[in-house]
Amino acid sequence: MIDLRSDTLTKPTADMRQAMATAEVGDDVYGEDPTVNALEARVAALFGHEAALFTPTGSMANQIAVQLLVPPANELLCDADAHVVTYEIGAAAALGGVSSRTWPALGSEVDPAAVAAMIRPDGFWAVPTRAIAVEQTHNRAGGAVIPLGTLQALRKVADEAGVALHCDGARIWHAHVADGVPLTAYGELFDTLSVCLSKGLGAPVGSLVVSNAQRIAKARWIRKRLGGGMRQAGILAAAGQHALTHHIGRLGEDHGRARRLAEALAEFDVVDAARVRTNIVPLDLSRSALDAPSLGVAAREAGVLVSVLGPRVARLVTHMDVDDAGIDTAIDVLTGIFKR
Ligand SMILES: Cc1ncc(COP(=O)(O)O)c(C=O)c1O
Repeated sequence: MIDLRSDTLTKPTADMRQAMATAEVGDDVYGEDPTVNALEARVAALFGHEAALFTPTGSMANQIAVQLLVPPANELLCDADAHVVTYEIGAAAALGGVSSRTWPALGSEVDPAAVAAMIRPDGFWAVPTRAIAVEQTHNRAGGAVIPLGTLQALRKVADEAGVALHCDGARIWHAHVADGVPLTAYGELFDTLSVCLSKGLGAPVGSLVVSNAQRIAKARWIRKRLGGGMRQAGILAAAGQHALTHHIGRLGEDHGRARRLAEALAEFDVVDAARVRTNIVPLDLSRSALDAPSLGVAAREAGVLVSVLGPRVARLVTHMDVDDAGIDTAIDVLTGIFKR
C-alpha cells in the first residue's frame, strides 16, 4: 500500500529505533530525564526562546498554550479551519473554560486588519480577547505557508491590542524549508508555539510547547493536571532528537513529491498545483464526476490510500515513507482513476 493519508503514519527508521533503544533515561516528572531535558533545551534554542516542554501530542501542546494565554471566560481568536477548534474536541472550552471565536477559513491569506477588528477589549460586558492563534503550515488549507510579513503584521496587531500570539507550528519545519525563514525568525514573533516531531519528521510520538521560562514552569503544572506527566520519556525524546538532526533537511523532497502529484492531477481540475508549496495536496472534487468516497475506494483497490475529508474533498500527504517510485505509482493509479 502507498499510504498518502497523512504524514503521521510514518514508522520509526532503524536508526531512530537504535537511538531510542540506547537513550539515557530518568523520571521526567522529577525533571530527571537527561534526554528529555536536552530535547527541551534544544527546541527552545531553535526558536530563540528560554524554555520548552515535551508533551505526548500536538493537541496537548496546543491546549497547554491556550490555557497559558487565555484565562477561563476569556477568548481565543483563530481561523475557522484551525486544528485547535476543528480537531481538538472542544478542549479549549471543556478543559480551559476558554471561548473561541473564528475568522472565516482563509488558510495562509489571513488578513491582520480583519483580525484586529475582531479583538474585543475588557470592560464592555463582552468576552475579552486574550490571544490570537495561527497555524503554520495550515493543515486544512493544504499545507499553506503564512508569509513572514503577515505574521509580523499580526504581531503588531497583538502588541497594539495587548493580546498574545500563539503558533500551532505542528508543521513549522515545512514552512521553514519552503520559505527559507529561520526558525528563530518565527520564534521571535510568538508568545507560545507548539511544534510536532511526529508529523513529517518521523518520530512516533512527541510535541513541545515553546515559550519563556515562567510560562513553561506553569505549562509543566498544566501538563501534569492533564495527565501528561511522563516518566522515562527519554526513549521518546531520543526519537525526537534523531528526527531534528536527520529529518528536517529532507523535507524538501516531500514538498517536491507533493508538487509532482499536484502537477499530474491538475489536468483533471481537482487541484491548483501552483498553490501546493509543502507536503499536502488538497483535492477539490466539486467539479469532478468522481466524489471523494468513490476516489478513496478506487484508489484503495489499486493500492493507494488517500484521505477522504468530505463528500467532495480529499487529501494526499507526502512523507518519509513514500519515495519517488511510490509517487510514480500513485500518479499512475490516480490519473488512471480520473481518466475512467
Ligand atoms: C496543524 C496541527 N496541529 C496540531 C495537531 C495535533 O497533533 P496530535 O495529533 O499529536 O494531537 C495536528 C495533527 O495532525 C495538526 O495537523
